[in-house]
Amino acid sequence: MSAAPIYEVRNVTKSYGSVHALQDASLALHAGEVIGLVGDNGAGKSTLVKALSGVHQPTSGQIFLDGVERSWKSPHEAIEAGIETLYQDSGLAPQLSVGANVFLGREVTRPGILGKMGFLAQKQMDAKAHAELERVGIAVPASNRSIDQLSGGQRQAVAIGRAVAWAKKVIILDEPTNHLGARQAGEVLEVIKSARDMGLGVIFISHTLPHVLQVTDRVVVLRLGRVVRDAPTSEFDAESLLGTITGLIESPAEPLEEEL
Ligand SMILES: Nc1ncnc2c1ncn2[C@@H]1O[C@H](COP(=O)(O)OP(=O)(O)OP(=O)(O)O)[C@@H](O)[C@H]1O
Ligand SMILES: [Mg+2]
Repeated sequence: MSAAPIYEVRNVTKSYGSVHALQDASLALHAGEVIGLVGDNGAGKSTLVKALSGVHQPTSGQIFLDGVERSWKSPHEAIEAGIETLYQDSGLAPQLSVGANVFLGREVTRPGILGKMGFLAQKQMDAKAHAELERVGIAVPASNRSIDQLSGGQRQAVAIGRAVAWAKKVIILDEPTNHLGARQAGEVLEVIKSARDMGLGVIFISHTLPHVLQVTDRVVVLRLGRVVRDAPTSEFDAESLLGTITGLIESPAEPLEEEL
């Protein structure tokens, strides 16, 4: 793991009117590292994701990519810079094929005059999509099948595969194992590990704490919009992580209130 963070937010605050969704949140992600971002419903996780992925501009605070301060004006800018995000709802186009979805927004046109007329190199995209998904460890029936012919778990796998395949530096996964069976969830965790092994920085959001403990190197805990703990995963077990999320455990040094 390199010493300097690949992606960093410092003191980010985001308010929606009078709702302080995020207050003074900081986080540093390194290449080849998986950070688990956890917290109760409404803790501010997706709000932080949206700041990191250029969906929202923070009310205040700074964002650094490779040590350079950035201010995303759109998700497209963040994507161009190498940051891929899987949002809480996956954003696949159900009528299009797996291949077309993997290449959504990055379509390859056919060579020559046909390409200039806007004809797409569909077979090439399907084959490349298949190869890319395979590379990141995702087995999908056939890339020319449309998304609405896949199971929920397979759709989710395509969405994750697409993000990992395109990510150049950072991949952010907002609850990617939701609605998945045990086996598919296990596959997603394997994909996260292979993304880390490729040298990407990964932010993994989940309410399934055993998954977080299994796959992350660090855990950042948000409560009511604030980072209340940022520590190596080895410092947590399921109980202490839950306690930190709910506020039952204030910090590792302090005993539980009942024991005072
Ligand atoms: N567009 C919005 N307008 C107003 N308030 C919002 C908006 N989006 C989120 N919020 C509020 O900001 C707070 C943080 O929400 P956020 O979606 O970041 O939580 P979360 O940690 O992702 O929760 P969950 O686990 O349920 O996905 C909540 O109080 C939520 O109601
Ligand atoms: Mg959320």
